[in-house]
Amino acid sequence: MKNNLIQKYNIPGPRYTSYPTVPYWDKKGILLKDWKLTTIKSFDESNDKEGISVYIHLPFCESLCTFCACHKRITKRHSVEEPYLETVIKEWKLYCNLFDVKPKIREIHLGGGTPTFFSSENLKNLIDGIFETAKKHSDFELSFEGHPNFTSKEQLQVLYDLGSRRNSFGIQDYDPIVQKAIHRIQSFEQVKKVNDWSREIGYTSISHDLIFGLPFQTEKSIRDTIKKTIELKPDRIAYYSYAHVPWIKGVGQRGFNENDLPKDEEKRYLYELGKQLFFENGYIEIGMDHFALPTDSLNIALKNKALHRNFMGYTAGKTKLMIGLGMSAISDSWYAFAQNEKKVEDYQERVNEGELPVFRGHLLTDTDLTIRKHILDLMCNLVTTWNDNLSDVIKKGILNQLDEIKKDDLLIVEDNKLKVKEEGRMFVRNVCMAFDLRLRENKPTTRIFSSTI
Ligand SMILES: C[S@@+](CC[C@H](N)C(=O)[O-])C[C@H]1O[C@@H](n2cnc3c(N)ncnc32)[C@H](O)[C@@H]1O
Ligand code: SF4
Repeated sequence: MKNNLIQKYNIPGPRYTSYPTVPYWDKKGILLKDWKLTTIKSFDESNDKEGISVYIHLPFCESLCTFCACHKRITKRHSVEEPYLETVIKEWKLYCNLFDVKPKIREIHLGGGTPTFFSSENLKNLIDGIFETAKKHSDFELSFEGHPNFTSKEQLQVLYDLGSRRNSFGIQDYDPIVQKAIHRIQSFEQVKKVNDWSREIGYTSISHDLIFGLPFQTEKSIRDTIKKTIELKPDRIAYYSYAHVPWIKGVGQRGFNENDLPKDEEKRYLYELGKQLFFENGYIEIGMDHFALPTDSLNIALKNKALHRNFMGYTAGKTKLMIGLGMSAISDSWYAFAQNEKKVEDYQERVNEGELPVFRGHLLTDTDLTIRKHILDLMCNLVTTWNDNLSDVIKKGILNQLDEIKKDDLLIVEDNKLKVKEEGRMFVRNVCMAFDLRLRENKPTTRIFSSTI
């Protein structure tokens, strides 16, 4: 890849886990009444068929990793577990009260923070509590994110017994210098232990999260991290580009200097290197940032054109309605988005008052819905077709924006089809930005997004 292309396209841009992206949600927010109406509409249209998804945000972590951009609360006090989970169940019941019939759950994902911060008993109570007022879809899946230093065999067994066959572990990097800089000390032996336990118990899809672009990473350190990762043969690998967003309140990115980060071309090289090593070991690239073995459901979904992308990244379990529970969780009814209060205390207070703890949201317009579909198709399949209701003016505007990318031979534009070439895959966020009418109409004046590469 030519360095000049990397320099040209490495600009701040969204990761498109939603459209419109969160900073472009309607500043007036969403009325709770409207959020409830779209949730009920989406539920009625889909519960009987594909069912619904539930995302539960479990925000606590014992120790702060200084690269982390997630919504978390650092504490060693485990007395926070029970009151938090009681609130989550209360919030779930507020949703269930909106519906005439019991929700049929296709997927529950426990994200964080660190879900395995919670004891086995509490995790069991949480899932049992959810199913007091819900049924399981025939394709039900339960997945969770585990921190290798804070995951016990008992937790893995309990979650397996509750139906989980899929988990993901945060690895990030095995190099001691990198680990020290990001305050995330964790040995290969520890990771191997939780990986082996998962296999022994019967988990069939294990994912490892790695990050490129972290401070002090080098070609040698990445080769070593990937070699160790391949040794454990996870079914999926998320190979995330480090998102450096120190200006966002509460992320806590510190402990290293911007000069310690690999520069643009170096960072891109680390991506190319990782990709090559994953290919050599039988992994297939999925959309952006993800690799999977041919047998993994993500890859099967990709082949069947059933891959979906939501706030957690890529998923094979597409549902129209995703209810997000817990502090900062985002829900998606397809017609609207809603985000919960971002402080644990505010979240608990609102739920305890008996109301959904939504603090902002966005009701999608018809144009938003069409653009959303194009962006999803591009992010999942690198291709989109025009048979929709966008006006010629809007279409022309998008094509104009794509002119440079086309001239750089990264994109094929046909009559009603637009296809990102394999060489353009790393610039798919830039292609989506051409469709992002809201971003184009209102360019940010301050830094709000990480760089696209
Ligand atoms: C909520 S964390 C995962 C679970 C668990 N807390 C852990 O750290 O092992 C989800 C993943 O997001 C990724 N992540 C967090 N901050 C990031 C950043 N600034 N840039 C890129 N990826 C990031 C990490 O790979 C991390 O494993
Ligand atoms: S990376 Fe995981 S464990 Fe570390 S602070 Fe973020 S959410 Fe917590």
